[in-house]
This record gives sequence, structure tokens and C-alpha cells, in this order.
Amino acid sequence: MTTPLRTQVAIVGAGPAGLLLSHLLAGAGIDSIVVDQRSREEIETTIRAGILEQGTVDLLAEIPGSRVHSVGTRHDGIELRFDGHGHRIDFPGLVGRSVWLYPQHEALKDLIAARLAAGQDLRFGITIDEVLDADSSRPGVVGVDATGAPVEIEADFVVGADGSRSNVRVAVTGSHTGGYFREYPFAWFGILCEAAPSADELIYSNSPDGFALISQRSKTVQRMYFQCDPEADPDALSDSEIWDTLKRRVPGTTLTEGPIIKRDVLRFRSFVAHELRRGRVAIVGDAAHTVPPTGAKGMNLAVADVILLARALDSLLNHGDESLIDGWADRARQRIWKAQHFSWWMTSMLHTVPEATEFDRLRQLGELRSVVESEAGRTYLAEAYTGWPLASAG
Ligand code: PHB
Repeated sequence: MTTPLRTQVAIVGAGPAGLLLSHLLAGAGIDSIVVDQRSREEIETTIRAGILEQGTVDLLAEIPGSRVHSVGTRHDGIELRFDGHGHRIDFPGLVGRSVWLYPQHEALKDLIAARLAAGQDLRFGITIDEVLDADSSRPGVVGVDATGAPVEIEADFVVGADGSRSNVRVAVTGSHTGGYFREYPFAWFGILCEAAPSADELIYSNSPDGFALISQRSKTVQRMYFQCDPEADPDALSDSEIWDTLKRRVPGTTLTEGPIIKRDVLRFRSFVAHELRRGRVAIVGDAAHTVPPTGAKGMNLAVADVILLARALDSLLNHGDESLIDGWADRARQRIWKAQHFSWWMTSMLHTVPEATEFDRLRQLGELRSVVESEAGRTYLAEAYTGWPLASAG
């Protein structure tokens, strides 16, 4: 038997949700231990999306040493392209807010450095297998470290921020999968290439041949995606076939080409766990929900979950007041389902389903036109993409 570690909040997962939660809790004088199965290097080098809502950026910018404003770039709009024409959605003009492109692994480097500098107990290479005593006032987690030695943490509250394959979810929902699901009949073929940006802003393009997204990473590296079969093999296409597909999918735009340095296939799923909390155990971020990437909501939704949760844990652990934690899941779910709807809507409006009829295709163009040609339509998109105000979620 090992001597259990003891803390107020045991946080499983050192992704954006877990690290940000530890930061917010520390600000409220609450101790936490953060553990993650992965190494620090793996966390800091895994390439993920990077569109941050204004509210997410404002929070990250307060973290000592944050590079979000220096390395990240502000985007004041996106282009929706269909039927051979581009239509700009002007975020500040419509809703007075913007988004920032700041790759998630850069945000994670900032967060890890800041938490370690602040004395956070943050441990890598620890796999948590099980949650103990979820219904008691002393829950805990057990697992193993990188050498196979047992680890146990006793806490006042356990938070699962352990991603879409969450082990903590089992203690909350009763199973690994317990939730509302939607699968999509397509995936994204993604590339990273060494080239200058093709345009100032992201281009979301609907074409008869399928969807494509021209995104960015930096002045010299770009991220691009095109809709593909979920079973596609990322190595089956030559570089020139990839460029031909992208060019066909974004007609009317000249893409800046360059060497392809990475390729992958991203499957799409929508998921919301049936339960987000059981007793003194909660799940947040990808452990609680998954959205398809079209709406760029993933990390932002995780941040919204933990802002609310940090407030609820402050009330519970500092003031013995259970009302916020009792209402937390319902409040978090309101934003989660709005983001689910937006992500599903952007996805279904922009992609071509394999069995689409001519009616479906023409209806889809009618839908796109009704968004871009109406200020109300553009405003709905801009409001959701830049993020509903966090104050109304909290
Ligand atoms: C990305 O840059 O990876 C990205 C950007 C916008 C999205 C999805 C992914 O909607």
C-alpha cells in the first residue's frame, strides 16, 4: 500500500480544461493536484485546432507569461465560400467581438509553465484507472505512475478533464460511453504544409465536390482540411492529388502551395454525456462532450465548463454552499447544447452527404444564401463563432 496523496481537488488531465481549472482554483485559494497519462512533451507537441473565442483569450491573457497576444493573431472574420463566390462574415461589425488563432499546444505550453512556476503539483505519466467513493465527501482516484508504481489521491472533489477516452466518466455516467451520440458519414483529411497563408482569414468552402477549410498556423505553416470518407487512408493520396482536391474544393481562390509535412484523418462525432456530475465527481471538456470541428468550439467549450465549475467549487469548498455545484451541470449543459447545435449546423450546412440528391444540394445553397445575404443570419453565425458571453453562462 502507498500513502495516499491528499489535496482539495484531484484533477485528472493536463489539457486546457484541467490546467485552467487548477489556475482558477489557485486564485480562490484552493489546492489541487493535476495528473496526466501523457508526458509533458507529448502534451506540448500534439497539434490541435486553435480558434479561441474572445472570452477564452481574455482569460488566457491574464496568465503570467501568456503569449496569446504576441504569438496568436486576431481574426476579425471568416469567409464562407459557395457557388464560386466568397462572402465575408465581419465579426466586430456584427457583434463587436473577434476570435484569435492560437494553436492549442502553444496555449498548453504557457499554461504548464505558469502552473509550475506558481508551485502547482502537476504530474505527468500517471494513468488513473478508477475513481473511489464518488458519493462520499472524500472521493479519490487510483492509478499507476510511469514505472508501474501505484498512485492514490484523496480529495474533497474529483474532476475528470481526461479527454474523450475519459476513465473518470465511468464513475459519473456508469459506463465509458453513456451519452447522446451522433456519427457523421464523413471525416476531414488534414494537412500541415510549409507555405505562406493563402488568405488573411480562414475560408470555409462548400463545393459540389465536398467541403474544404483553409486554416492557418503561422506565417510559414498552414493547416488545411478537406472532407473525406471516414475510412480514408491518409497515406493513400499523393501530394499532387491532395492539392488537386483542395483546389477543386475552393474554386475561385489561389492556394499557396508548399511541402506537406503532416497528414491525418479526423473522424467526426457529436457527443454529450448523460451525466456531468455524480456526488463529488464532475467531468469537463472532451470527457463530457465532443463537437465536430467545423464550429471551432472544442477548447472554448472546455473553458466555459471550468469557469462555471471553479465558481461552484469556490462556493462549496470555501463557504460550504452546495447550491452552485448542485446547479452546475444544468448551467453547463445549456451552453454545451447551444455549441452542439452550432457545430452540427455549420457541419451540415457546409458538407456534402454521400447520398445527397439534387434537391438537397440546392436546398443547401439556399440555406447558405439565407445566412450570408441577411444581417440576422450573419449575426447569428458571428455571435456563435466568437462565443456567447461567458457572463450569461455563469
Ligand atoms: C484548425 O485550424 O485546425 C481549425 C480551424 C477552424 C476550425 C477547425 C479547425 O473550424
